[in-house]
Amino acid sequence: MFERPINSKDSTGTEMHDESRQGEALLLERPKQYTGRKLYIESYGCAMNFADSEIVASLMLDMGFETTDQYKQADVIFINTCSIRDNAEQRVRNRLREFSAAKNKRPGMTIGVLGCMAERLKSKFLEEEKLVDLVVGPDSYRDLPNLLSKADEGMRAVNVLLSREETYADISPVRLNSNGISAFVSIMRGCDNMCSFCVVPFTRGRERSRDPQSIIQESKELFEQGYREVTLLGQNVDSYKWNAEGDDHAENNVNFARLLELVALINPQLRVRFSTSHPKDITDEVLYIMKRYDNICNHIHLPVQSGNSRVLELMNRTYTREWYIERVDSIRRILPDCAISTDVISGFCTETDEEHQDTLSMMDYVQYDFAYMYTYSERPGTLAAKRFEDDVPEEVKTRRFNEILAKQQECSFNRLQQHIGKTHRVLIDGFSKKSDKDFSGKSEQNITIVFPASEKYQAGDYVNVKVERCTPATLIGQIVN
Ligand code: SAM
Ligand code: SF4
Ligand code: F3S
Repeated sequence: MFERPINSKDSTGTEMHDESRQGEALLLERPKQYTGRKLYIESYGCAMNFADSEIVASLMLDMGFETTDQYKQADVIFINTCSIRDNAEQRVRNRLREFSAAKNKRPGMTIGVLGCMAERLKSKFLEEEKLVDLVVGPDSYRDLPNLLSKADEGMRAVNVLLSREETYADISPVRLNSNGISAFVSIMRGCDNMCSFCVVPFTRGRERSRDPQSIIQESKELFEQGYREVTLLGQNVDSYKWNAEGDDHAENNVNFARLLELVALINPQLRVRFSTSHPKDITDEVLYIMKRYDNICNHIHLPVQSGNSRVLELMNRTYTREWYIERVDSIRRILPDCAISTDVISGFCTETDEEHQDTLSMMDYVQYDFAYMYTYSERPGTLAAKRFEDDVPEEVKTRRFNEILAKQQECSFNRLQQHIGKTHRVLIDGFSKKSDKDFSGKSEQNITIVFPASEKYQAGDYVNVKVERCTPATLIGQIVN
């Protein structure tokens, strides 16, 4: 999901980290060793990686850096990378070549590789890509000051240690590329599931949850700054769990349903979204909390991966087709207006044409509003790479992918048409991409709605919009009150 390159253009300002000791009103300023130096940061992969870039930007601004959206003018270029599929890694390598050319013209420049590819390839990166100066894994960003000075001295600067505790809970992210209305808030890191196709447990380490107080504080501050939507992020949000230290009272422990409620209670004007839900862990308790609070958006991203139980078992997803269908039925029963989106992989090891048909029939059954679709890409070191042969020929993977894509286009259009004539509460994002005579915003179900702009409203306001028609991906309507 969210797999698109984005450069982290100019950020809006520094966020100071106050360090006071035992109530003393003493501000301990860190030496701003890099004042005036320019940082360019570009991110790939999932929303969690983008959220991490905002932590990195915060740490770098703390050292005196300012951000630039022109990599050729930067003193430090960071590329925050993704390893999920081979093509994601190839894109990064191509981009590194362009950065290296820029470095040849500007020899003082430092190039750093961050994130999942850094973790997967470790110091091999320094040998493979000669112009890379720094390799930093996702749990080592606090070590950046030390690594940067090492790189400045021409030493090998690598830190890829994974942690069981690090959540960066105390760091206020610097919002990059922000529209000032929607923001991501990480609630946990890592993943303890071992889906056989997936590299994430190896690049992100063990699952750990972030202190709920810091999540609520960050969300409150966002609301106070004018943000109107937060998306709580984790690879498997349903297994969020916080046990207050030394507190045996079960009622003081926070699970995902309770966390969702606590964030929803900040203010009814703050929309709350979350991603990603795991079909084996999503509970009715979460669904009832969603039903109870109008500001928790009716949208669940519930990756299915395959509609066939044998393939799901090989994928080590730990649920069956029947279990998944039962979870979808619960969502439809408790939250009839809820949008459901998914991730699908075509051509996993040994998948037959018949088993692929089960994925298509699952799509018919669920009628997903949206889907991210992929062909299987073997990742070194994963369980599937060790145990199974990647034996579905590329052309078969692609044919199945195209059938999945066509099916999803049909489902998305069916679902969009069901909104015609209905009125949605829309959070305005800004003017539509095509015309500044129109506003664009999102419904609760995360569907884009375009409607004529009105001087009475601006980005960040809520309006009721009656849907009149739709294009293949967008609803079109009019403000009604
Ligand atoms: N944690 C989420 C989950 O459990 O579904 C999402 C994890 S991953 C960042 C996003 C999606 O990438 C997965 O849901 C899966 O569809 C896809 N993916 C992961 N590994 C893949 C691989 N080796 N080949 C193709 N797609 C893959
Ligand atoms: Fe990967 Fe599975 Fe964890 Fe998702 S739940 S990140 S697919 S191992
Ligand atoms: Fe995300 Fe890619 Fe890493 S999807 S967790 S950035 S491998």
